[in-house]
Amino acid sequence: MTVILDGKLLAEKITAKIRAEILKNSLKPKLAVIKVGDNPASLIYVRNKQKKALELGIESVVIELPSNVSEENLLEQIYILNEDTEINAILVQLPLPEHINKQRVIEAIEPIKDVDGFTSYNFGRLALGYQPYSFPCTPKGIIRLLDEYNISLEGKKAVVIGRSNIVGKPLSILMQRRNATVIMAHSKTVNLKEHTLSADIVVSAAGHPYLITEDMINKGCIIVDVGINRIDNKLIGDIDFNTVKEKASYITPVPGGIGPMTIAMLMENTLELYKLQKSFEL
Ligand code: GUN
Repeated sequence: MTVILDGKLLAEKITAKIRAEILKNSLKPKLAVIKVGDNPASLIYVRNKQKKALELGIESVVIELPSNVSEENLLEQIYILNEDTEINAILVQLPLPEHINKQRVIEAIEPIKDVDGFTSYNFGRLALGYQPYSFPCTPKGIIRLLDEYNISLEGKKAVVIGRSNIVGKPLSILMQRRNATVIMAHSKTVNLKEHTLSADIVVSAAGHPYLITEDMINKGCIIVDVGINRIDNKLIGDIDFNTVKEKASYITPVPGGIGPMTIAMLMENTLELYKLQKSFEL
């Protein structure tokens, strides 16, 4: 029987705990989100983050900048947020317009306020097996969801499709830390099916609808779908869910799988950074 990995349910459990902790202890975590331009997907993501923060008693501020904002102006905004002691967490919504050097922007964020864990300080610590201030939200959410269902990664062959800094790269490191054997597949991988067919776990973060079909996976495989594709105004993942579901032992749905887990982890990271910063003030 196939088990649906219910990210929505777990995210609700996690965020209810966060809300209770904030309320009980009168905590005042504050998240700043910078959004540049009007990428329609970013618009929805930022709105969802704001809505969830409000629900949990996390104050959030969204700084909206036009798509033609200069890199210097954007950097200036980050410096202001870095200095603002009321702000505990900073997130720059990606992607950024072409004319902006993404690396420079991310590196401008103080590592202790880097709620995505994207700065080289935090990402480097993650890669080295040390404790970063924050773990990237989507990979952290994936591991947490697998843990919730007692799915061990030890000795398993995991194929991660997509090598982005946001998902594929940090996830592959986290999975290795759990003793999985990880194959990083990407757009230039030759014969993807050969890899997926021998995998115990397939994670797709490629952003290609119907990339993974039933003939590409082994019976009993664990399937994690990070894809968010909009087709005819409907949200679908990278996995051909209806056919793959029959063969999988565990599978995440889209929507209701990794999406809500990512937001829950963002809220958790914000609270953790707040507590860490408070502890330094003592
Ligand atoms: N764009 C898509 N996913 C993410 C994310 O996790 N963090 C940021 N900052 N931008 C994103």
